[in-house]
Amino acid sequence: MTQLNVELGARSYPIRIGSGLINNKAEFNNIIKTKRVVVVTNETIQPLYLESVLSSLTDFNTSYTILPDGEQFKTLEYFEKINAYLLEQNCGRDTTLVALGGGVIGDLVGFVAACYQRGIPFVQVPTTLLSQVDSSVGGKTAVNHPLGKNMIGAFNQPQAVIIDTETLKTLPPREFAAGVAEVLKYGLICDLAFWQYLIAHQDKIQTLNDEEIRYIIQRCCEIKADIVAKDETEQGLRALLNLGHTFGHAIEAEMGYGVWLHGEAVATGMVMAAEVSLNRGYLTPTEFDEIKLAITAFNLPISKPSSMSASDFIKHMKRDKKVSDNVMRFILPSALGQSALYSDVSEAELIAIL
Ligand code: NAD
Ligand code: GLY
Repeated sequence: MTQLNVELGARSYPIRIGSGLINNKAEFNNIIKTKRVVVVTNETIQPLYLESVLSSLTDFNTSYTILPDGEQFKTLEYFEKINAYLLEQNCGRDTTLVALGGGVIGDLVGFVAACYQRGIPFVQVPTTLLSQVDSSVGGKTAVNHPLGKNMIGAFNQPQAVIIDTETLKTLPPREFAAGVAEVLKYGLICDLAFWQYLIAHQDKIQTLNDEEIRYIIQRCCEIKADIVAKDETEQGLRALLNLGHTFGHAIEAEMGYGVWLHGEAVATGMVMAAEVSLNRGYLTPTEFDEIKLAITAFNLPISKPSSMSASDFIKHMKRDKKVSDNVMRFILPSALGQSALYSDVSEAELIAIL
């Protein structure tokens, strides 16, 4: 078992990484301070892991609610349904929510926890690679709106993140690949040595070798915890974690939520950002090819949907949360393994790559 901490003063919390953690009562008993617990999960995860989690929560008054599975349910409608469940069950402020699932469940439950009776505690139990390396850490919670991805939400840190690496064994390969997109992102934004490690250990990562999987989750969480501790509400540094996301969110919104997986859209978005960097001379053609090769090797797409025009992208990108004073801002690789926020990307540069 490895423990990292997200250092946020009184709101600091542990990230615990290990095999079989959801079967361990002590994991939950040491963290949850309320008598009442509500587990929120979805219909795919319920038959796989709900029973294990419930058997670790027998010291609490526990109930659960099951949502349909999919990005298309990360909406205000389902936010409202979870709140209605809590009210029907007479849950008070002395209730802890447990988000058991991937980033969709984690983002939705975290947002409910921010709002229900003005805020109740929650614990993240992420079960996808993407949620274990990214979405469960750092307190960004949100729902989608038809006009934009993650447009309604709150910064709300969990009480703890419990990462059981065993859960990855049931993850479909396409979902695993989507998680690798966010893993590659950490290497590209700030850790060249990690980027090189990912390329060198590609085969063992793909076959879920324990040592490599544990290491990549730990390294991603270390980087994310460090960035979040320095810039919780994204005043600057944290924006780097959005490499590829401005393009990626446009793909997700335009194609319909759930058609392209978030990680797939981010993978293509990172290639698009890298192409802007190539045209600016920040990356050499060899480095640009290395990025495309690595992304392809992990079974991720590198080309935008053929149905999307430049104006489709620009329409969505103008609503991006990084837009300030009507100026679009982009995270671009400034070199291989480094990145920065740029406010001077012209529409002509975008059209050249779109
Ligand atoms: P997801 O939550 O939709 O999960 C992917 C699929 O895998 C679902 O069908 C789910 O039911 C299934 N699943 C989950 N765990 C499983 C397991 N162990 N075995 C078998 N199937 C399992 O998607 P995701 O990729 O985890 O998360 C994507 C979401 O995360 C997006 O909404 C994205 O916007 C959000 N996100 C948030 C942040 C953040 O900082 N809050 C960061 C990155 C992404
Ligand atoms: N996934 C981006 C962030 O947490 O800031």
